[in-house]
Amino acid sequence: MRKAIIAGNWKMNKTPAEAAALVNDLKPLVKDASCDVVVCVPAVDIAAVKAAAEGSNIHVGAENVHWAASGAYTGELSAEMLVAAGVEYVIIGHSERRQYFAETDETVNKRAKAALAGGLKPIICVGESLTQREQGVTEELIRMQVKIALNGVTADELKNVVIAYEPIWAIGTGKTATADQAEEVCAAIRKVVGELYGADAAKALTVQYGGSMNPKNAEELLSKPDVDGGLIGGASLKADQFAVIVEAATKG
Ligand code: 13P
Repeated sequence: MRKAIIAGNWKMNKTPAEAAALVNDLKPLVKDASCDVVVCVPAVDIAAVKAAAEGSNIHVGAENVHWAASGAYTGELSAEMLVAAGVEYVIIGHSERRQYFAETDETVNKRAKAALAGGLKPIICVGESLTQREQGVTEELIRMQVKIALNGVTADELKNVVIAYEPIWAIGTGKTATADQAEEVCAAIRKVVGELYGADAAKALTVQYGGSMNPKNAEELLSKPDVDGGLIGGASLKADQFAVIVEAATKG
């Protein structure tokens, strides 16, 4: 039905030489994966990672994309530029971009639409803060983030969308959501997508969990029916750890 996707989010780590070395270490470890394996890497590493990953089952992603086709947007990258560099996936709306770079639900929507129009597969990140969880508004907030992110996205385009549930309080903190918490929100994401696009589209959607996923907790998280993969930060920087998570998805 739907394929699990394990994606690394390298964030602001690795020089091109270090990136190539990591991919070279990773290749033999994940070559038999039955899930899709993606590494989302800093823009300067894309060429080195593409070259290292050539002929392997490792797909390459970027960490952001701008909504305009070109123009005076210093420091930004267009979908066309990323596609030309061999990029297939792109993370959009990561909580670090929302927190430090003024990303909003509206700019997430603009970036997602531009990514899709340009032929990229967006991994759209949503997630609540600890305060919002404690206030009991997690589901409402996630529903709103998903609805705004997908505003104007066609049913055909949705086939290329991945949604990642990343509770902000679990990112880089070592505090993972329980498998039940992850399942509850991933199921809520599938439900709202079902309301917008119908049951078949919801069933086909890949929903990832992200936030301190590691070799120890991956199998339990990935065993949940609505958790179709993971977006991995810290553990994606270590080939052996990332490979164990890929293996867990292969089993799950
Ligand atoms: P960690 O796995 O380091 O918690 O990061 C998760 C994340 O932000 C992935 O996008």
